Amino acid sequence: MLPNLKPQPADAILALMQVFRDDPRKDKIDLGVGVYKNAEGITPVMRAIKTAEKQLWESETTKAYTGLIGDPAYGVALRDMILGDAVDTARIAYAATPGGTGAIRQAVDLIKMASPTATIWLSAPTWPNHPSIIRHMGMKMAEYRYFDAATRGVDIAGMLEDLSGAKPGDIILLHGCCHNPTGANPTLSQWKDIAENLEKTGAIPMIDLAYQGFGEGLKEDAAATRLIASRFPEVLIAASCSKNFGIYRERTGLLIAISPNSATQPVTQGTLAYLNRQNFSFPPDHGARLVTMILNDPALKADWQTELEEVRLGMLSIREQLAQELRQRTNSNRFDFLAQHRGMFSRLGATPQQVETLRNTHGIYMIGDSRMNIAGLNSKTVPILAEAIISTGI
Ligand code: LMR
Repeated sequence: MLPNLKPQPADAILALMQVFRDDPRKDKIDLGVGVYKNAEGITPVMRAIKTAEKQLWESETTKAYTGLIGDPAYGVALRDMILGDAVDTARIAYAATPGGTGAIRQAVDLIKMASPTATIWLSAPTWPNHPSIIRHMGMKMAEYRYFDAATRGVDIAGMLEDLSGAKPGDIILLHGCCHNPTGANPTLSQWKDIAENLEKTGAIPMIDLAYQGFGEGLKEDAAATRLIASRFPEVLIAASCSKNFGIYRERTGLLIAISPNSATQPVTQGTLAYLNRQNFSFPPDHGARLVTMILNDPALKADWQTELEEVRLGMLSIREQLAQELRQRTNSNRFDFLAQHRGMFSRLGATPQQVETLRNTHGIYMIGDSRMNIAGLNSKTVPILAEAIISTGI
């Protein structure tokens, strides 16, 4: 049996992580994998997480199983953080998952059960693990235009035109905020156009929300998701706490499924529990419990929000500095898009060859499509990157 297996394609993001680790150069700069780093290059455990962990260690009396959907208090706390009062809660089913990726995987499994011939539409480009999971699950895929390579902004006309070709029941995977890999995001008024356009097709939105709080703010980054959730009869949301709570390795995600009405919610809820049971039984609890403690304790929540805001503003100031350095060096505003992008990533718009030169000559690592993790920079490395961008002829 095992000799029948074929080598699987390496994940470009994770493969780059290894190449970076193996590079002996001391001054190398990692702009690869999407992990937040502070100015010292460290991915810190957030203060509120440390406090909650200490409290949990002192108070936890058992490690017995929770439930198939995790502790319901976690689902409620995260549901409210994401959706506010945008949707009647009687329509909402949810289940904790191992990270945001787990939520996407469970969502595709759910789609496959309910609608095996549906086509799942992805933005061009998207996070490479989206098509990888969908292909692995044997579902059909289509692409909609998203990124305008000339302006490095959203190609809204192309996006709307392509989405109008969706069929009733097709699934449209959208990035709720902080688009990965481009960093370009629709404005709220463009989101309204997207929603209006999709309503006409009868397609079902699915939202990947992995960076809430990294773009315009915690509530602001949920605005598109709330808008869509309030207008459509059915919506899937795959949420991650990896980035905004900094608990990457704890695998803390949530799949939300909004049903057309409260009568259809129980079967949806039961199916989410069933799918968890089939795939891994009980979802991880540690990260989910910390998130629940923080969201339900006003002091912890305030501290977490303050630190999250520091992280967000830190990335924004790096963006401003980089755009400024490049403005000076080019005597032009052609890199100003870097200051307009939001979240961890920006697609620089370099060729694969230029990306390779940045890596080989300058020790600067970005993904092959020229996606840079802005959080991999600090005020000292920004001028180094700006200089390298110029000398590489980008
Ligand atoms: C990324 O895009 O770099 C992150 O979401 C990490 C990952 O799993 O790919």
